[in-house]
Amino acid sequence: MSSASAAVPAHASRSPSLKGRVRVPGDKSISHRALILGLLAVGETRIEGLLEGDDVLATARACEALGAGVVRLGEGSWRVRGVGVGGLASPAAPLDFGNAGTGSRLMMGVVAGHPIEATFDGDASLRSRPMRRILDPLERMGATVVSCAEGGRLPLTLRGAERALPVEYESPVPSAQVKSAVLLAGLNAPGQTVVLEREATRDHTERMLRAFGAEVSVEPWGAHGRRVALSGEPELSAVDVIVPADPSSAAFPLVAALVAPGSEVTLEGVMTNPLRSGLLTTLLEMGADIRLENAREEGGEEVADLLVRGGRLSGVDVPPERAPSMIDEYPILAVAAAYATGETRMRGLHELRVKESDRLAAVHAGLIACGVEARIEGDDLVVVGHGRVPGGGPAIATHLDHRIAMSFLVMGLGAERPVAVDDAAMIATSFPAFGPLMRELGAEIHLEAGA
Ligand code: S3P
Repeated sequence: MSSASAAVPAHASRSPSLKGRVRVPGDKSISHRALILGLLAVGETRIEGLLEGDDVLATARACEALGAGVVRLGEGSWRVRGVGVGGLASPAAPLDFGNAGTGSRLMMGVVAGHPIEATFDGDASLRSRPMRRILDPLERMGATVVSCAEGGRLPLTLRGAERALPVEYESPVPSAQVKSAVLLAGLNAPGQTVVLEREATRDHTERMLRAFGAEVSVEPWGAHGRRVALSGEPELSAVDVIVPADPSSAAFPLVAALVAPGSEVTLEGVMTNPLRSGLLTTLLEMGADIRLENAREEGGEEVADLLVRGGRLSGVDVPPERAPSMIDEYPILAVAAAYATGETRMRGLHELRVKESDRLAAVHAGLIACGVEARIEGDDLVVVGHGRVPGGGPAIATHLDHRIAMSFLVMGLGAERPVAVDDAAMIATSFPAFGPLMRELGAEIHLEAGA
């Protein structure tokens, strides 16, 4: 459905030191949710700091197609006039989510709870990703898969329930997307919809549902898990949402500052939600010089300025239970591990195989191409750091994956020879200003065709 855009090759070369103070764009997870809850609320939701990346823009268009009035007022400043829970209309045309797993999966939850029908589609990466994990609970709630590609993949047409049923659902995978889809479907079901998660995943949906007026209770469940219960059929009222800076985007300049010697970089207002902070925990264990300054609250989330200084890192063992809090950060952690001294073992990475690409395979192949010692053992990625990275290999295959592209461009900043990536175009899905922001800090990153 999304036409494949032309590849944008890019490369990065050794940069002496990075200096400066920057703010990365708004959090992608929160941006999707702000638009979607704006659609489901009565009244006008104002959003400041919305990430204007392709993924989020696809969600904005989908909200419009389902009946919301969506207006861009200025940079990052948006207004959504909602239709209220129960007030959605079937979209006239298929919803094209491009590369966006979160947007498509959360919106499947929204559609499943309403007596409407919608077709979901996306690019080659999204078409390859598993949707059964979302469709299984939604079918239990009364939704019907009218048609789908083999293996429950996109393009697929979903017919929502005439009268959605509340469920108690234990997700077999630790996934905030699955949890959120079930909760969003449960908004239009009577009674309590409960999600049991064995490992706590990011809680932005729960927090934002509460801010919009829903009743959501969260209790500990099992050793690391949670029981999340939503009271159905709330009247959601529009609120103002301030989107904090995305820790998953901040991860790139952060690790860049750690691997380019002599660097000193401040990243402003980065969200420090504990369910998103696994990378910070791990880098601190590796001996990174990162200070959290000016800790405060913004828009219902904890944020802080991160002062990062380059220096020596040591290999560590990253436990599997940390994965949900840093699931998107393993590619860039692998870069930090390559520059560290000693072995870093990242355990329990099976979920990385079903991200925008098979990230376990893509990271491993990229490390080898850069001359880094690395191996996959079962679901673990092992990187043996020698404090230096040769670089200079063939262009890294990015497989339509923004985080693979950004990670290996950061790899090039400390490498002995430049590191090239085959396509940086997908960076626009989550961090459109990556190139200019990194160059502002002094990074030698060159993207062709003005990406
Ligand atoms: C997200 C959840 C995670 C993450 C994704 C964003 C979200 O996916 O990888 O980038 O906003 O809920 P899973 O729920 O599949 O782990």
